[in-house]
Amino acid sequence: MQLTKLIYTSNHGGLTAKALDDLLLKSRANNERDGITGVLIASDEDFMQLLEGGRAVVAECFMRIMKDDRHQSIRVLMAGESGARLFSEWSMCSLDASQVDKGIVSRYWINGTFDPARMSQVAIEDLCRELSAQPRMATI
Ligand SMILES: Cc1cc2nc3c(=O)[nH]c(=O)nc-3n(C[C@H](O)[C@H](O)[C@H](O)COP(=O)(O)O)c2cc1C
Repeated sequence: MQLTKLIYTSNHGGLTAKALDDLLLKSRANNERDGITGVLIASDEDFMQLLEGGRAVVAECFMRIMKDDRHQSIRVLMAGESGARLFSEWSMCSLDASQVDKGIVSRYWINGTFDPARMSQVAIEDLCRELSAQPRMATI
């Protein structure tokens, strides 16, 4: 299997905790079935998600995600082959951007704001790697 990673950002404009829980419940069940792992970072307004898995299943998953009206302005930040999974233990790890480690915030947030669309590809990859290496991640 060719391992593929896809990272995108989108805007949700405000989501209740219940809505996020429902989204994660469904996503995790599907991803477990499809062998997809990754992380979903939610800020007050935006999402950034890393999907990692087989090329076909990641593409199919992203097609479904693109049609989802719970978010808009979807922008692919990077897509391509991957050597290894960063979130192999997670059918979809969930992080609240406001609870991310302060050191990570100071290195990657732009003027104190989580703004993945303005981050370089190198920074996005480094951020995902650092988040995957956190011993205990704040989950929502
Ligand atoms: C921000 C966001 C992230 C999502 N992530 C996933 C995901 O990782 N896996 C997944 O199957 N669906 C994900 N979804 C849900 C899909 O858009 C879609 O509702 C779901 O895959 C439909 O599954 P079903 O065909 O089994 O009903 C996500 C939706 C949003 C808005």
